[in-house]
Amino acid sequence: MTELGSDAVVERVPLILDVDTGIDDSLALLYACASPEVDLLAVTCVGGNTHARQAARNTLAVLELAGRTDVPVLLGREEPLVKPLETSAETHGPEGLGYATLPEATRPLEPGHASERIVELARARPGEVLLVTLGPLTNLAVALEREPNLPQLLGAYALMGGAYRGSGNTTPAAEWNVYVDPDAARAVFAAWAALDTSDAPRPLAMGLEVTERARLLPGHVAALARLAGAPPEDAAALARDGLQAVGSVAADPVLRFLADALRFYFEFHARYDGFYGAFVHDPFVVAAALDASLVRSNPVFVDVETGSGPAHAMTVADWRGLTRRPPNLDVVVEANADRFLEELVERLGGLAALCAGVAL
Ligand code: RIB
Ligand code: CA
Repeated sequence: MTELGSDAVVERVPLILDVDTGIDDSLALLYACASPEVDLLAVTCVGGNTHARQAARNTLAVLELAGRTDVPVLLGREEPLVKPLETSAETHGPEGLGYATLPEATRPLEPGHASERIVELARARPGEVLLVTLGPLTNLAVALEREPNLPQLLGAYALMGGAYRGSGNTTPAAEWNVYVDPDAARAVFAAWAALDTSDAPRPLAMGLEVTERARLLPGHVAALARLAGAPPEDAAALARDGLQAVGSVAADPVLRFLADALRFYFEFHARYDGFYGAFVHDPFVVAAALDASLVRSNPVFVDVETGSGPAHAMTVADWRGLTRRPPNLDVVVEANADRFLEELVERLGGLAALCAGVAL
């Protein structure tokens, strides 16, 4: 869909986000809402950070916070393909949004299954739709069962998931999104492995080795608050007092949400990763999917270990071509984390100002 800007025609990217809204998923949702180049077609929900129904409630509430009750939200599978669902309350909080509490959304979920909507939207606009998955790949695996030609129907696909050159974050071998549903990840990667890549672009895969280069810190949140119109002393309090929202920050619903959600996330990272801040995996992937200049990737064949044992849910990247299997993913190997963080602060600050009716 195009919009006439001042004097330029802006070709917007038709985007579907598949999320397990959680804290960094919520930042990705807000980033998409704050991106003028995005036409957010739908958000589909899967279990992971929290149960799928809670992720859907969180997604509806975050979109309402951003004033985007026009974006359809659909529920997907509530269980992984084979494993029982595991969630991560310790990382994202009992309801998935840390200390933040948002009003219950005023609108319901769209009827129908997430995987069916992904297929419908791809069929309706062949070669145009960008799909970005930010949680376990369960819904996409089901969508591929429904429509095996989905890779050719999508315009592009990007995922947050895997660890292609280093350690996992859930086990030494496994990254969380793949760990929750390794069978789905294996099926998705195999679907692209089966293609002649001239038929469809390879998925852009961002693993922990690059997403963990983007560390959101209290100073970023303070800068975001200033951009949103908060007085310097209120913004400074965020960085000084461990993201405690005071004054105008507490009064601004978007800033208050970010402070309360991120305070929980920062406390988690302080305990487990040794810094008071947060890896913001999911919005980094959305930013890279929208702006290829942020990253550099290499084509590589990747499979997923679905057996038991220490390598369970490992994304096994064949960097040396030993399997002689053609590449099925474009794995990101370099990423400009600083420029992404600047963009994140600027866009979320602008969105907060817009939602608060602050003229910048
Ligand atoms: O491993 C990081 C991923 O797991 C992110 O998508 C985060 O939201 C969690 O789902
Ligand atoms: Ca996620």
